[in-house]
Amino acid sequence: MTSAELAHPWWRTAVVYEVYLRSFADSDGDGIGDIGGLRARLPYLAELGVDALWITPWYPSPMADGGYDVSDYCGIDPRFGTLDDADALIEDAHRLGLRIITDLVPNHTSEQHPWFAAARAAGPGSPERARYFFRDGRAGGEQPPNDWISAFGGPAWTRVVGPDGIAEQWYLHTFAPEQPDLDWDHEGVRRDFDAIIRFWLDRGVDGLRIDAVPAMAKVPGLPDAGHAPGALFESSSWVDSPHWDVDSLHDVLRRWRRIGDAYPGDRVFVTEAVVNGPERLSRYVRPDEMHTTFNFDYLTCAWGPADLRRVVEETLTAMEPVGAPATWVLSSHDETRHVTRFGRADSRAATMGFDMAAAPADPALGLRRARAAALLTLALPGGTYLYQGEELGLPEVEDLPEEVLQDPTWERSGHTARGRDGCRVPLPWSGSAPPFGFTADRVRPWLPQPAEWAALTAEVQRADEGSTMSLYRAALRIRRSTAALRDAPLTWVDAGAGVLAFERGPSFRCLVNFGPAPVPLPADGSLLLASGPCDGDLPADTAAWVQRQE
Ligand code: GLC
Repeated sequence: MTSAELAHPWWRTAVVYEVYLRSFADSDGDGIGDIGGLRARLPYLAELGVDALWITPWYPSPMADGGYDVSDYCGIDPRFGTLDDADALIEDAHRLGLRIITDLVPNHTSEQHPWFAAARAAGPGSPERARYFFRDGRAGGEQPPNDWISAFGGPAWTRVVGPDGIAEQWYLHTFAPEQPDLDWDHEGVRRDFDAIIRFWLDRGVDGLRIDAVPAMAKVPGLPDAGHAPGALFESSSWVDSPHWDVDSLHDVLRRWRRIGDAYPGDRVFVTEAVVNGPERLSRYVRPDEMHTTFNFDYLTCAWGPADLRRVVEETLTAMEPVGAPATWVLSSHDETRHVTRFGRADSRAATMGFDMAAAPADPALGLRRARAAALLTLALPGGTYLYQGEELGLPEVEDLPEEVLQDPTWERSGHTARGRDGCRVPLPWSGSAPPFGFTADRVRPWLPQPAEWAALTAEVQRADEGSTMSLYRAALRIRRSTAALRDAPLTWVDAGAGVLAFERGPSFRCLVNFGPAPVPLPADGSLLLASGPCDGDLPADTAAWVQRQE
């Protein structure tokens, strides 16, 4: 490692592109994205200018939750390819200068994992059951052991029916019933995951994104949480929950950090943690724990100068004492795409697709704001996560027919929330009709693509200087070549009401005009990039990067 790399390890400022594998690109014509499809499109990602890819779970899975229900942590699902394909992908990516982060799902297995099958078969009190949370029900067994709720709606407990057809114990699942929670106080569970982490680090991955980390510890005795009947899983407002963000989980994170640090080449851990505010979040990235963590306060924030500034400030203030970089993220495979959100009167995001009550979106307004948001986000200090398709300005697909919906949220909410399928529609690559180069012609992708996406394909956008893809490419190029965007702290500049403006170093300035009126651009600077047409002034819902004379 060079001294520059030691001073600025890659992950502190990396732009990480989330690949939702089953919707990225399909190489074998089954309508489901796979490793071969991703390998073939790696040059696209290298050209886009990202630093690393986070690939959603590719392990063997019954797909009750899109692969977040893992039945073998050391294999590849045949729909996605083979271990050899994964090795080849890692090698190709490295050759192109792209790092690879895989997704680890430690809180729960699939109900079809051999550990759970053995636990179910072995019966109450068995050592096999001790890996999970099997408990007797209340009220003579009829009622769940406590009041905990599932992130997808409904109770977090399901009752087992024995081979004799008689109902017996209940088991805990923070997510779907097909995703039983592991008991992380069980030393065998911890040891098995040590080996799983080493398995992937040995294969050369640069990091692991750890799923649903706050669920990984429970208060002993599993006391009631006090959830009101019908309560939603709003973990960002919970204080002292017995089943979320429980402090003892940090022991596990420290254990993993020791494993990662023993490997050469700056391997990283990224956590997914929707917790109550930046201070709680900063605990996940203390110096001996994980490296970075997704910033859900930013992701869920409404489009507006005061709220965004508050979230940016609170994030930077909370991360400072622990020495971790901030991260910024606008969309993922779990929330409504931000082009659509930002076109709604209430532009906040809800997790797990629980926001269908929202008013209709204004797509042109949403896109204008999303483009401005990209420049805001990419100018903030720290790392950024992009979600596949945001570089194409893809909207949420809000009118998927009910019969194709697959997200467990749809069933578990009693068909009141459509869930997350609308942000998971396969990418449009080329051509004028579905499947838009995503899979072989005449094959139906696993979710249908809107015909209007003909205007949004990567092929069309590559040829158009004004496209959203061209904006992302230009922004990423400038970000890479501007040292201040890596090193310099953020300093706010007063640019009037409705405008967020800040400097990174003496010469780089980012301005975002939230409207309603146009504002003048600084007279002493030249425009590096703008998210929309600028004519001396910066129009509403537009952002600009300006190079000022020192
Ligand atoms: C995380 C994943 C989400 C999944 C859940 C359960 O939130 O991002 O897609 O459903 O964990 O594993």
